[in-house]
Amino acid sequence: MSERTRIAPVPLRVDHAFEGAGTRTLADDARDGLTKPFKDLPPKHFYDSRGAALFEQICELPEYYPTRTERAILEQVADEIIAQTGAGELVELGSGSATKTRLLLDAMARAGTLERFVPVDVTESAVRASAALLIEEYPGLVVHALIGDFERHLDRVPAACARRLVAFLGGTIGNFAPSARRRLLSTLRTLLEDEDHLLLGTDLVKDSATLEAAYDDAAGITAQFNLNILHVLNRELGANFDTDQFEHVAIFDETNEWIEMRLRARKAQTVRLAAIDLTVEFAAGEEMRTEISAKFTRERLEADLAASGLELVGWYTDEQSRFALSLARPA
Ligand code: SAH
Ligand code: AVI
Repeated sequence: MSERTRIAPVPLRVDHAFEGAGTRTLADDARDGLTKPFKDLPPKHFYDSRGAALFEQICELPEYYPTRTERAILEQVADEIIAQTGAGELVELGSGSATKTRLLLDAMARAGTLERFVPVDVTESAVRASAALLIEEYPGLVVHALIGDFERHLDRVPAACARRLVAFLGGTIGNFAPSARRRLLSTLRTLLEDEDHLLLGTDLVKDSATLEAAYDDAAGITAQFNLNILHVLNRELGANFDTDQFEHVAIFDETNEWIEMRLRARKAQTVRLAAIDLTVEFAAGEEMRTEISAKFTRERLEADLAASGLELVGWYTDEQSRFALSLARPA
């Protein structure tokens, strides 16, 4: 065999899908969402570095059970999932601080399959911080990060280097309305070859008191997280929202089986968004929707997966059936 110099792969690579277009998206979303009869804004704009830090605090709140429940399930089943999938590459959508991710990476390391981690997230600060830690913690791991919007930029995910597991944890799929959810799952399906798998975390339907407490905690952290979207508009679009004049609302919509977060105007007011030359009127008590967080049943999830060309092959839940992890593969 000839003596060839093997070039070690770069441990960390960060690709940007936005290339300066991030602010334009916010501008478009604000113009669309604030000029509708029922105003709304997409939740992805919560996550500047302050919003990402507030989300981390939410995950530790006594009322917010999804994070710790999903972590407990993963602790139980990560080895089984890696044995079943044989995954050597983990692609994670909305990876954030990639805390629970470590349970999967550990299982891959134990199985001797771990090669590459591909986090995809809009929040550059969170991705860079977690990637720097991971390459230290997992010798030989290659991290190829993509800073982008997983609704628009999944075509920028690099070609697979090993059998692939796509993880979409935390229940973030629930932050999309049914049609967008199926669209996203269908796009996500294109990242999978026949032997690859999807691991999807979903919060489950339960009593409204538990759900509403999880989204309206006593310490007011979720309220700050919700109001953060106004700070983002003030900074990025030269808006003059007075955040004291809006209050946090979280209600469980029993018909749609989703939590709705809204911001309610405490009084009639006019807001100017200078950078996009837009003036918006709010009536006293008017509510603007900032997030839905859908709660699932196994049946609904299987139907969504099937509509997107995916087949459920594993269903893991906690004793109280609060949260579920689903393993799916191309149908
Ligand atoms: N997976 C983590 C974080 C969930 S918070 C957990 O389970 O705890 C949701 C994450 O998705 C945030 O990091 C946010 O920045 C990211 N996110 C939200 N909408 C996004 C979008 N459209 N494209 C890419 N990332 C998005
Ligand atoms: C990221 N996502 C799944 C969270 C959720 O529960 O819908 C965001 C969140 N909103 C309020 N609290 C947490």
